[in-house]
Amino acid sequence: SINVSPPKPSRRLGRILSLDDFAAAARRHLPRPVFAYVSGGVETDSSLRANRDAFAALSFRPGVLTDVSGRSTATPLFGQEYAAPFGIAPMGLSALVAYRGDLVLAQAAAAMNIPMIMSGSSLIRLEEIVEVNPRAWFQAYLPPEPGRIARLVDRVAAAGYGTLVLTVDTPVMANRENNIRAGFSTPLRPGARLAWDGLVRPRWTLGTFLRTLARHGMPHFENSYAERGAPIVARNIVREFGARDHLSWAHVEQVRRRWQGRLVVKGILRGDDARRARDGGADGIIVSNHGGRQLDGTVAPLRVLPEVVAAVGGAVPVMLDSGIRRGTDILKALALGACFVFVGRPFAYAAAIGGLAGVRHGIDLLTTEVSRDMAMLGINSVAEMGMDRLVTRDRFF
Ligand code: FNR
Repeated sequence: SINVSPPKPSRRLGRILSLDDFAAAARRHLPRPVFAYVSGGVETDSSLRANRDAFAALSFRPGVLTDVSGRSTATPLFGQEYAAPFGIAPMGLSALVAYRGDLVLAQAAAAMNIPMIMSGSSLIRLEEIVEVNPRAWFQAYLPPEPGRIARLVDRVAAAGYGTLVLTVDTPVMANRENNIRAGFSTPLRPGARLAWDGLVRPRWTLGTFLRTLARHGMPHFENSYAERGAPIVARNIVREFGARDHLSWAHVEQVRRRWQGRLVVKGILRGDDARRARDGGADGIIVSNHGGRQLDGTVAPLRVLPEVVAAVGGAVPVMLDSGIRRGTDILKALALGACFVFVGRPFAYAAAIGGLAGVRHGIDLLTTEVSRDMAMLGINSVAEMGMDRLVTRDRFF
């Protein structure tokens, strides 16, 4: 339940009153290349803006005097009861943003009883995450060859994960000009800018980088192809990504045949794709435009959510991410048919600014917002949130 309250936040965290405050603090404290990597969208950032605009275009019609004293943010998903209707989205290279960042996110999620999705593009071995959070989910990009798909599935299963998320919106690398302009690269190269930022922005952290280096050697994507003991350096990953554009639904089906656990497909923006995922054996769908980081100009997931929900006809849970920053955003997504949402960047910033306490503080802020908003909407459970509590801006009567 939401009563798993974090310890009283430090003075610094006490000044963080909303998820957006984490972004402002992280901008001051992360080296520019690292902040740019997390905050960036792609090309003109129009998907990034569209994600926020979509939430702003919806308005509530609250109900009053309904006795909301017994309300709860608890939300069921896949047979579990989570404390709130949101979880932590998978974010690659989190250990460059905060020291051992993936572990921090996993621990905070476990302590607060929300789901956390471990990224397949991580510096931390996927086995270490389940040790601190046995209920974490694992996200993978589909490997380009059948043999590798089998090895990936077997390793994830052997580690004890129950849920595998396949991200399918990445046939080729996105055009992240912002990373190049800001001097972000993988592996992160210790250059003059990084050293300078590390000195003037000591909270990240040249320390984070140096400790990461000491621990992992030159950062590589440990999990990407999930062949333990055979890490691939980022240079090769880029080459591999070039060879992934032949992937099709047949590869998802190959995973389905081998993977006994729950399978979630992430990165769907169309009803017909949602149906294919369901027919291919997916147990859940995440409607997402990757936080506006893949194809610039993609529609905001919120705008296609009703279409996707209608397409799968309630057969599988439909979740959503991209642009969620407030309790009100979550409730708008639930009203349009999502059963759960995920939040990315704010939790990366929270880990960078305040480590475990920071992420717990972020989860607490968002949960408190959801509970307060539910009271003002006149509902006692997230299941009560429906279209009848919304109007769109262009409807006046
Ligand atoms: C991501 N995202 C992502 N998605 C995925 O499936 N695998 C990954 O490795 C990553 N890596 C990643 C790194 C960083 C720094 C960010 C910000 C995002 C996308 C992520 O899971 C999610 O879809 C978006 O972040 C959600 O949007 P918001 O909440 O960040 O606006």
